Amino acid sequence: MTRPAPKTFHVKSFGCQMNVYDGERMTEMLGAEGMVATPEAEADLVVFNTCHIRERAAERVYSEIGRQRREDGTRPMIAMAGCVAQAEGTEVTRRTKDVDIVVGPQAYHALPQMIERATRGERVHDLDLPGLEKFGKLPVRKRTGASAFLTVQEGCDKFCTYCVVPYTRGGEISRSFEAIVDEAKALVDGGAKEITLLGQNVNAWSEGPNGLDHLIRALDKISGLERIRYMTSHPNDMTEGLIQAHADVEKLMPFLHLPVQSGSDRILKAMNRKHTAASYLAIMDRVRAVRPDIAVSGDFIVGFPGETEAEFEETLNIIRATNYALAFSFKYSSRPGTPAATMDGHIAPEIMDDRLERLQALLNQQQLAFNEASVGQRVKVLLERNGKLPGQKIGKTPWLQSVHVMTDAQIGDMVDVNLVSAGPNSLAGSLADKELNVA
Ligand code: 5AD
Ligand code: SF4
Repeated sequence: MTRPAPKTFHVKSFGCQMNVYDGERMTEMLGAEGMVATPEAEADLVVFNTCHIRERAAERVYSEIGRQRREDGTRPMIAMAGCVAQAEGTEVTRRTKDVDIVVGPQAYHALPQMIERATRGERVHDLDLPGLEKFGKLPVRKRTGASAFLTVQEGCDKFCTYCVVPYTRGGEISRSFEAIVDEAKALVDGGAKEITLLGQNVNAWSEGPNGLDHLIRALDKISGLERIRYMTSHPNDMTEGLIQAHADVEKLMPFLHLPVQSGSDRILKAMNRKHTAASYLAIMDRVRAVRPDIAVSGDFIVGFPGETEAEFEETLNIIRATNYALAFSFKYSSRPGTPAATMDGHIAPEIMDDRLERLQALLNQQQLAFNEASVGQRVKVLLERNGKLPGQKIGKTPWLQSVHVMTDAQIGDMVDVNLVSAGPNSLAGSLADKELNVA
């Protein structure tokens, strides 16, 4: 069936920040092609930028696609992008008739041509993993928010036994230093005050002998850029150079997202994490030695196949030993094609529920304690978006805490805020300058 060329579009991203970044680049590209971004219900083209990391993420996408039929029986052109597209490939067209385009995370620069073919009634696939080709083909970045993402590295060679990423994003590849610096400057010119460097294994970024710390030190020199962050890191790529950068690069924020997944050495081995609980804690000691105020964040999986109660308690112990400011925790989800999927000892759902609940109770306590310890401090907050109340803005502290503040200052402004109260997920503050004026 032929159909008119879409004039409007909507990109819906699921999952990690890498997908958010890819979604922004798709939006910029389709805009540059003359298409107009609209709400989902009015769009001629809906792009689902999918996540495959846990089973529920993929199922949700299929059910959303099923709901795209409109009252008059028509549906928009539908593109499935991202990791589900890469992992399922042509299987997508077997599972549903409602997807016109299937495009993997390394091939989305070809979307305009694919859309054109889809208007001629073709069902189009592009699941090549051509490395970094897409970056050279996307339009230069223009306007951006106060805080912007910048992908510097893609893919993963670690092959943790539960994880689909090495299969959906391919092997580890680093973008060139020059391309990254150029994009960072374009983002700053477009209004970004903060840049978060992204990669599945961002701290594995390298160019010749230079590691991520070299890149961070170069970005530190860009005037107008005020904050640098990076995520997600693997413990084994946490070099001395990167740790040292936390001591002496002023723009590098005191925040480290370093997933540990489990506190049990036997489970870590079965996960093929290639680090131990002790080696992880040793990294934390070194990081805290150079940057005592650093906020630490982590990812955890409960109920990996064969995990005993005692092994789960070792995870609680490493959480107690590390003391997290922020955390993301998940029940193990079996992913077809990964080694863990065929391991013995899959854990019953009710045991996983119980473990996740206990783990999250501990993490929430730590998160709340971390935020409460900030109350009474005066901190710099980068205003990122409007809050729900009139005049309210939401911004971030250097430690990535969300702060609600009433102010006339603009999004993108860096303001001094006195923190007055804390919850587990955010703090409230009052503008410090305003108080001075009142006094
Ligand atoms: N099941 C549950 N959690 C997973 N993660 C990755 N794969 C799985 C899986 N199969 C989690 C890990 C990772 C985060 C991005 O998602 O904790 O760090
Ligand atoms: Fe997945 Fe492990 Fe690679 Fe992270 S390091 S993306 S969990 S395989």
